Amino acid sequence: MKVNSLQYQHTHYAALGSPWSAKADRIQSATGILLGCFLLAHLHFESSILFGKETFYHVVQFLEGGMFSSTGHGMPIVTKVFSIFIMLVVMLHAAVALRRFPAQLGQWRALRNHMQGIKHKDSHAWFWQLVTGFILFFLAPVHIFTMITNPEIGPHLSAERVYHANAWLLYALLLPAVVVHAMIGLYRVAVKWGLIRHRKGLRKAIKVLIIYLMTLGILSLISYIMIGRSLVLPITPFVP
Ligand code: HEM
Repeated sequence: MKVNSLQYQHTHYAALGSPWSAKADRIQSATGILLGCFLLAHLHFESSILFGKETFYHVVQFLEGGMFSSTGHGMPIVTKVFSIFIMLVVMLHAAVALRRFPAQLGQWRALRNHMQGIKHKDSHAWFWQLVTGFILFFLAPVHIFTMITNPEIGPHLSAERVYHANAWLLYALLLPAVVVHAMIGLYRVAVKWGLIRHRKGLRKAIKVLIIYLMTLGILSLISYIMIGRSLVLPITPFVP
């Protein structure tokens, strides 16, 4: 009798979704919002190179806590510690996201049939988030580990990394994947938690944001490559 009641309880919970699943959902949304906002800030700070080497230099000094040091110079240890924090958030985000991956061939087939059968835009958005999430699983840690082990940032130091250490190749793949993933992610969070009534308007805004961030990222990347090409090795860090 006891076994039966336990069995009933088990199937009952399985049908409803366990409390852990609701918690995992909230963790995924919260870490996703944090990472999405971080990306928006990151791409803007990093694109300050478009205003010249000096502007980028001052942005980096400010973000590395220059106002708290006696010399006024930033401290790369700030970048190191912050990068470790972002790595932990990314790991948590990925860990809770993994449970959403279709695990078996049958599930992939069902997803494909579903996508072909209906032309629902949100299902397509979900599919692209799945694909870009898979790509990010491999690419994002490479970049974040580099920032942990080599946290030196500056107009020349970054240009050297991008051009001479070939990080441009990583960034050219990372940029579209992360921009699409983060923007669709923010859209889906807004829809999921009922923050928006007009999905169509939000979808348009997200498309504009994707094009804007891609343009910003590509122009910055070109700028780092051009600076990198003009540098003589071994480079000397830029000082205004
Ligand atoms: C706290 C950790 C991070 C730091 C300190 C950081 C710093 C930087 C810096 C300084 C650059 C410019 C090039 C260079 O110096 O190598 C850059 C480029 C880039 N980062 Fe990060 N980053 C971090 C985390 C992330 C994360 C989590 C993502 C997304 C998954 C990301 C995506 C990118 C992309 C796509 C570029 C190239 C942008 C472009 O094409 O203009 N970064 N990052």
